Amino acid sequence: MAQNILADKILIIDFGSQYTQLIARRVRELGVYCEIYSHRASFKAIKDFNANGIILSGGPETVKQKGSPKVHDKVFELGIPLLGICYGMQSIAKQLKGKVELANKREFGHADLFLKSQGSGLFKGINKKKMSVWMSHGDHVSKLPKDFKVCATTNNSPIAAFHHPTKKIFGLQFHPEVTHTPQGKKILKNFVRDISGCKGLWNSKNIIDRAVSEIREQVGDQEVLLGLSGGVDSAVVAALLSKAIGNQLTCIFVDNGLLRLNEGDQVMETFKGKFGIKVKRANAGNQFLRDLKGKKDPEQKRKVIGKTFIDVFLKEAKRNTKIQWLAQGTIYPDVIESAGTKNGSAHVIKSHHNVGGLPSYLNLPVIEPLKDLFKDEVRKIGLELGLPKEILFRHPFPGPGLGVRILGEIKRPYIKILQLADDIFISELVKDGYYEKVSQAFAVFLPVKSVGVVGDSRRYKYVIALRAVETIDFMTAKSAKLPHTFLEKVSNRIINEIPEVSRVTYDISSKPPATIEWE
Ligand code: XMP
Repeated sequence: MAQNILADKILIIDFGSQYTQLIARRVRELGVYCEIYSHRASFKAIKDFNANGIILSGGPETVKQKGSPKVHDKVFELGIPLLGICYGMQSIAKQLKGKVELANKREFGHADLFLKSQGSGLFKGINKKKMSVWMSHGDHVSKLPKDFKVCATTNNSPIAAFHHPTKKIFGLQFHPEVTHTPQGKKILKNFVRDISGCKGLWNSKNIIDRAVSEIREQVGDQEVLLGLSGGVDSAVVAALLSKAIGNQLTCIFVDNGLLRLNEGDQVMETFKGKFGIKVKRANAGNQFLRDLKGKKDPEQKRKVIGKTFIDVFLKEAKRNTKIQWLAQGTIYPDVIESAGTKNGSAHVIKSHHNVGGLPSYLNLPVIEPLKDLFKDEVRKIGLELGLPKEILFRHPFPGPGLGVRILGEIKRPYIKILQLADDIFISELVKDGYYEKVSQAFAVFLPVKSVGVVGDSRRYKYVIALRAVETIDFMTAKSAKLPHTFLEKVSNRIINEIPEVSRVTYDISSKPPATIEWE
């Protein structure tokens, strides 16, 4: 019987901060399960969650405005330890009859925090009187609620941290969840593990044990189908299902012919070879090329690739009439986005990015064993399940694959050229230690010709663009500042080793205004 690793848990109430998911990840890193609920969640939903501790996130609003977001007043009567961060602290102050005002100066970035006390254990183990913290606020608490005490100040915020000496209610004006607050993890640990009394049962091994027993219970002796893409999420779902139900799992791997060099073979080697999973590889490269013929517009290409994918997948799926479940690699951030954390407990299912709409076509119930996990947790359990690092730590790859990296119409010879150029770029990045430092890197095929000279002969061939970006969330990105000598080395290799290329460029655009992909 698997341990009940959800016996101890933290609830995070979201007031819309850009850091809310980061708070959740920090709590999980401390070995404790947590979920994010909207501030609109009903009192019953909050009470029923049965948390050991509640964290109120930051947020963009001001508590001074009428109708500003707050938790239900009765949450303060539950007797559950409560930590408010930034806006969360201000909302505690306001609800408990303290005072919040616009600060004289907006505090953004690094600040020195002066500790006055250990704050009933919140600052336990931090022996410094002064520490660096990360601030991002315009309002601040100007008067404490009754019986509260100040435990830290900054030059701009006389009440930068407060606590109630007996009620286990705490507030921090700064953000302990960001790495710019070096002692932040310790503070969160004090709250989560000591003050809230959570044990730390949330670790890879326990997560796997729990998932395996849940899958077995859900599926029984029925058969499950999974679309394998070669990406991290579907790979981990495959490994997990294989551990839980072995031969009851069938995977379909649609090879659209637009994958990276040798990627299809690697997927087969790992899952069919190493894991012994029943994987059907649908070699549909020709069909994709046929359907894409004459299509130049990026959106049209995406649509065709999506539609052909579904056609191929369904054709394969319908061969197996015993299938009763469809597995998907939905992860927790997908669930949060879909539900918009609007009503807290809603687990709305998002069709997987690259397998859009499959459940409705197949009319099968969906099993989503990763739906409670963040990406870093998915990777950790992938390692524990024995998946290769190359799969788990690979840069993201778009569903339409090289289809959106060959500009305009896709032709068979272009695919090979791009695969080879991309492979040279990526292997050099790996060799020189840059692969892990950049968030995503790839080559792009430009169907224009440029003159070059190789040896004594003129070469009039295609152009390859290299793209490497640094980003946290892929919503904004900066071109990676790779050393010139490195780029020269890659360019030389590409032009020397691929006769169809005469020129290599490096893309230095940021997102926005450019996007990461070229199409
Ligand atoms: P953009 O080009 O929008 O890319 O800046 C942001 C991130 O999304 C990936 N991307 C896609 N992923 N299907 C996907 O599964 C797509 O159609 C798609 N388009 C872009 C891109 O690789 C980057 O990581």
